[in-house]
Amino acid sequence: MDIQAISEAAQHLMQLRKSHRKAELGHIYYHGQRVGNLAVRLHRELLRQERGCQAGGIDIPQEDTTQEDILRVAGWFHDVGKGIEPHPVYGAVLAREALAGYAAPEELDAICELIHFHAARRRPEEENAANAAADNAWPRWREDFSDGIQILQDADLLDHFGTAGIAHSFFSASFSERRPAEQIAHFFETAVPLHEKSMERLNYSVSKAIMQERVAFEENFFRRFRTEAQGEVWTAP
Ligand SMILES: [Fe+2]
Ligand SMILES: [Fe+2]
Repeated sequence: MDIQAISEAAQHLMQLRKSHRKAELGHIYYHGQRVGNLAVRLHRELLRQERGCQAGGIDIPQEDTTQEDILRVAGWFHDVGKGIEPHPVYGAVLAREALAGYAAPEELDAICELIHFHAARRRPEEENAANAAADNAWPRWREDFSDGIQILQDADLLDHFGTAGIAHSFFSASFSERRPAEQIAHFFETAVPLHEKSMERLNYSVSKAIMQERVAFEENFFRRFRTEAQGEVWTAP
């Protein structure tokens, strides 16, 4: 796989794109870069757990470095279809076109499969509903998805929290012309209730641990922001 050429293609296609009215310039490019890195990190962490290794160095066999390249590139391009919905489906088509010639056909198939299913997360009650609908063309259970799909799903979701969540809140407040007090209220009324639901949607315990830390940081930041926005002095709890 020609990672350098693919990296340049990602930049060329997405860095200057404004995918959403309330998102910053190049959002899908920078989000994609973070998700690609995070997916590789989760993959390594899961390998470590599987092999019972401690944190630190790990020898990655050849088949796993290929899998890491597939995850990284799928992360980079997972939202390339954003704005044309359903974006995972159109994104897989766009990515296949953009990556043609830079990856072997089987690598291309693997990357596009990850992109296609990156947003198909299900909570238990949704899995039951999907099962009742008996849509045989669509994986019905969390376990039906490959490890790669589940890793990409987790990396994608995690990138909405922590400092990325805080940055998004400020971008969104600016585009929506919310005053600080409104932004703070918006965070506690709409973002916080989603934290628990998002936690349920994660596939791996290693992702849940990262989410827990990120969400705690974010909530703490907004508690402090609420205090300091009134000219008060924050004292750590
Ligand atoms: Fe997406
Ligand atoms: Fe995404």
